[in-house]
Amino acid sequence: MKADPVEPARIVVLISGSGSNMLAIAEACAKQDIDGEILAVISNKPDAQGLDKAKEAGIVTQVVDHKDYGTREEFDAHLMRAIDEYTPDAVVLAGFMRILTPDFVRRYKGKLLNIHPSLLPKYKGLSTHQRAIDAGDKEHGVTVHFVTEDLDGGPNILQAVVPVHESDDAEALRLRIQAQEHIIYPIGVKWFIEGRLQLSKGDVYFDDKLLPESGIRLNSDA
Ligand code: GAR
Repeated sequence: MKADPVEPARIVVLISGSGSNMLAIAEACAKQDIDGEILAVISNKPDAQGLDKAKEAGIVTQVVDHKDYGTREEFDAHLMRAIDEYTPDAVVLAGFMRILTPDFVRRYKGKLLNIHPSLLPKYKGLSTHQRAIDAGDKEHGVTVHFVTEDLDGGPNILQAVVPVHESDDAEALRLRIQAQEHIIYPIGVKWFIEGRLQLSKGDVYFDDKLLPESGIRLNSDA
């Protein structure tokens, strides 16, 4: 939620890779679908492609390379310092592939969002598309969730569900799901900035109504 009712919300995005979700959110801000501004994109990887995309979009970029720090705690402490320079209203993880310390999560609790490529609580962790195919799932998807100390634990805000086709391999599924990511992540960030989402005692409320465990589900025929 915005701290200042007049100024656009202050958003910091953390990435490790291609930055396509970051860009979808930046575009929604540029179109004023989201009443916010990405003040900085911070990557833990100096060669993340998303850094170039952010620069092209005129967004400030910064690298806090996890390899420069001896421990997870030290890295997170530096990352927090970098983030806090921007006094963000929202900290958005967009393909940020680091396990966060409890201190980090606690600091931004209630304004820390993530997107994970599965229908959480199914398939926490990596290789989610292959695992869904291997399990013979008929549907798969992606989840926008608040981040808590429980890794990929939700609680869920929003999910996009896609059918798994017989012919799907992990890459085909990933591409269809990523198209959905670019739709639902800007929606989730928008709702958060508008103050419509609240994290309370591990539950998510949307417009003051308790959401089911899945969060709000959007189905796609894609
Ligand atoms: C996205 O598919 C996102 O769901 C996934 O990383 C990708 C980043 O793509 N996130 C996770 O796996 C988090 N556990 P992007 O850099 O193009 O936005």
